[in-house]
Amino acid sequence: MNETNIFSFARPLKLENIASAASSLSTVEDFVRYGVTRFTDSQLSFGHGTDNAVDETIFMVLEGLGLPIDALEPHLQRVLSLPEKQRLAALIDARVTTKKPASYLLNKAYIQGVPFYVDERVIVPRSFIAEILCQEDGFSGIADYDAVGSVLDLCTGSGCLGILAAMLFPNAQVDIADLSQDALEVAKRNVQDHKMQDRVHIHQGDLFAPLAGKSYDLILTNPPYVDKEGMDDLPEEFRFEPVMALAAGDDGLDIVHSIMAEAKSHLNDGGGMMCELGRCGPALEAAYPRTMFTWLSTENSDGEVFWIKKKNLP
Ligand SMILES: C[S@@+](CC[C@H](N)C(=O)[O-])C[C@H]1O[C@@H](n2cnc3c(N)ncnc32)[C@H](O)[C@@H]1O
Repeated sequence: MNETNIFSFARPLKLENIASAASSLSTVEDFVRYGVTRFTDSQLSFGHGTDNAVDETIFMVLEGLGLPIDALEPHLQRVLSLPEKQRLAALIDARVTTKKPASYLLNKAYIQGVPFYVDERVIVPRSFIAEILCQEDGFSGIADYDAVGSVLDLCTGSGCLGILAAMLFPNAQVDIADLSQDALEVAKRNVQDHKMQDRVHIHQGDLFAPLAGKSYDLILTNPPYVDKEGMDDLPEEFRFEPVMALAAGDDGLDIVHSIMAEAKSHLNDGGGMMCELGRCGPALEAAYPRTMFTWLSTENSDGEVFWIKKKNLP
């Protein structure tokens, strides 16, 4: 996201409704100030690609205008046409009045700068696994990215991690799998948009069921892992996401236990699995006291992802 100074947009710009916004505002900067004011005044939750009102507004304004989302400054003084102003005013209003995540309103999400089509059939991509794999020097657990020949993205949703894996591991064939046929329709569209049909293959079914007899150098998985308390407390924005993508029983580990039980038989010798599980790490450690997990952190997460080699899996 942009490195824009938050204070540039701090002067509030209040307007009554969409029509007055579209008629009284003129430039990109006007709309950013207006959006920040409305988002700050509303009880919004962030966490679908941005974590504050300024970045959320900048994303919506730039994406809403079809501009690259990584550079605001060159466009700040651009004077907008009436249809552009009407579109931005309506988008900003919809974000406030419906609480729908910006990515669903725009049908677009970026992870590590890579764009994906999204709608409410999939969660908005935000897995920390992407950040770990895309580190400048690569993830240290994988010595040679070129040597990875096969990858599974289990619980793929939009297909984002599998498609990123195909980009990062140029010699890998990648299987992506999900129980939700709806989600896989979205994944299929993303595979096509990224022209990855030759290397990314789609499977539908319950966890490893559609992958019988197959094994991989690398398994990536961001399964459902929200515990009951977390589901009960979900902010409105997160209720637009499919429940089956989030909910995983009382302690959040229902799906992770099933993955742990089968992962070993689907890994090649020397292979490993990277799994995101949010705040469920302590519960997992307690459930597998003799298993050696490597906990991974990122700029914005602390131990929400683990890495485990095949030889260390139960
Ligand atoms: C947290 S989302 C992750 C989506 C994507 N990997 C990402 O990082 O954005 C979890 C996904 O798991 C899928 N899922 C839930 N239960 C499943 C199961 N038993 N077998 C396979 N996939 C399942 C959901 O449909 C959802 O797409």
